[in-house]
Amino acid sequence: MRYGLLPALTNVSFTLAAGETVAMIGANGAGKSTLLRAIAGIHTPTAGSIRLEGRDITHLPAHRRVAAGIVLVPEGRRLFPSLTLEENLVIGSVPSRRGSWNVARVFELFPWMATRRARPVVYLSGGEQQAVAIGRALMANPTILLIDEMSLGLSPAVVRKLYDLLPELLAAGTTILLVEQDVTQALRVSDRAHCLLEGKITLSGRPRDLSPSDVEAAYFGLAKSTAGGRG
Ligand SMILES: Nc1ncnc2c1ncn2[C@@H]1O[C@H](COP(=O)(O)OP(=O)(O)OP(=O)(O)O)[C@@H](O)[C@H]1O
Ligand SMILES: [Mg+2]
Repeated sequence: MRYGLLPALTNVSFTLAAGETVAMIGANGAGKSTLLRAIAGIHTPTAGSIRLEGRDITHLPAHRRVAAGIVLVPEGRRLFPSLTLEENLVIGSVPSRRGSWNVARVFELFPWMATRRARPVVYLSGGEQQAVAIGRALMANPTILLIDEMSLGLSPAVVRKLYDLLPELLAAGTTILLVEQDVTQALRVSDRAHCLLEGKITLSGRPRDLSPSDVEAAYFGLAKSTAGGRG
């Protein structure tokens, strides 16, 4: 995956099993958003392939990936500020995708939304807007939900609240790939994690098998166990 001549991702290879939550952690510029956008079909990789249940979808346009159940909650939410909360949710619905998610069910997940359904989202708080972005994605009845930096700019309490919703999504059978700079939060909720550094996966494993020092080394690109190593 390149931007012009600049490679943003190289040799990134991993699988998502149905129903699991996988975290992709990494510092600013590691390539996390690029990876999610490539999976969502917003960028086409210059090499390699993306497969969904054995089918090669590398060249499938983004809207057809949504129809196939791959839905992105983009970094920065990307809502339509002047449209109402409910209108922003409805934009996410995809007629061809069957499933139980609809406006009423999103309101069950986020009960505060019902009373603010007619309010332009520009008047909602950051955390509320993030919830709307998640709700919009759910409206497409995703089988694979890609979540980019859910915690960005939100208070720890709000972040925890949003993350506490994940089990409910998983109960609905959704597979989740989440990108986070908040490593603790990401490891807390995921079955497996990968650390991305300068476009490469430097560490993979189950959170309980990853030591904090391994994660730190992989995250910041510090060479481990070099005698008298650099600072
Ligand atoms: N549209 C673009 N054109 C050129 N380079 C880009 C573009 N988008 C991202 N990059 C570069 O690609 C690399 C990976 O960026 P990416 O946005 O995927 O990182 P990230 O891990 O999501 O970072 P952050 O945590 O800051 O969101 C960076 O070096 C970035 O500067
Ligand atoms: Mg990013």
